Amino acid sequence: MADLDSIVAEIAHDMRAMTDRGQVADYIPPLACVDPAKFGIAVIDAGGTPHLAGDADEAFSIQSLSKVFGLTLALSLEGSEIWRRVRKEPSGSAFNSIVQLESEHGIPRNPFINAGAIVIADILVSTWGRLGARQALLDFTTGLAGSPAGLHIDENMAQQERETGFRNAALANYMRTFGNIKNPIDETLDLYFHQCALTMSCRQLAEIGCFLMTGGVDLHSGRAVTTVSHARSIMALMMMCGHYDGSGAFAIRVGLPGKSGVGGGILAIAPGLASVAVWSPGLNAQGNSLLGTLALEKLVQKTGWSVFNPFPLSVQQIT
Ligand code: DON
Repeated sequence: MADLDSIVAEIAHDMRAMTDRGQVADYIPPLACVDPAKFGIAVIDAGGTPHLAGDADEAFSIQSLSKVFGLTLALSLEGSEIWRRVRKEPSGSAFNSIVQLESEHGIPRNPFINAGAIVIADILVSTWGRLGARQALLDFTTGLAGSPAGLHIDENMAQQERETGFRNAALANYMRTFGNIKNPIDETLDLYFHQCALTMSCRQLAEIGCFLMTGGVDLHSGRAVTTVSHARSIMALMMMCGHYDGSGAFAIRVGLPGKSGVGGGILAIAPGLASVAVWSPGLNAQGNSLLGTLALEKLVQKTGWSVFNPFPLSVQQIT
């Protein structure tokens, strides 16, 4: 049985050789110019040991992965009250779809589609203001990332998100007509665009994800990051909604709660076992990382870490 370091090294080696790498997001230049040959993987096991391969220490734009952290903060602030403004159901629609909002009275299906994440951003802005909320997201992520070096909000990315964010503006304006956006649209969207521009490495992303692997506890300090119940809700939503209209296929292929971003990153959690981040910038038709998904599928095949497998291997068994 190969150990975890060998497994991630083999996966990175195999991914490097793949010729079909998907399409890099091209709606703004800072995403369009990312090299599609990049591939990184970081696995933090339950003992806190990192297993890294490829470009695991190179920073990339986490985009919609930030929706996990926004949701965590909103749950800490308002608990189950947030479910009055955003639902907990899969949408089966594209990440930026507007179609369900009219018949569902401006209440988004879940916090991981853009409409839902904009409502979550509005909740954070109501408490902290747009700059305070931006800082809260930065503090939350840097506080859990191990080394915060290089973790930042890319201001150029945020500005370009704003300049091209007509559909997000439409979603926010439309929800405001139902009273589900409370702050000035520009302020709420400002936070949303800046959270999309959070930039970090696979290693840092996997380190941050450890609070979900542990059921809400910072693996290194032992402090409570969120409650067990909130951690379970977040992971359930990741499983059902984390890959938009590709969520069902991801659940079957990988079988882990996962969240993707158009920068090509995916965070996947094997509860009690590992926090995993992968990055490959080329996307599939649903806007999820093509090789990132394949890499996670291979990892789960080798470790048995699907939550639907009653016999996952522990790290000790793998080593
Ligand atoms: O809101 C947007 O359109 C972009 N910032 C992309 C968000 C994203 O990552 C969606 N998903 N995979």
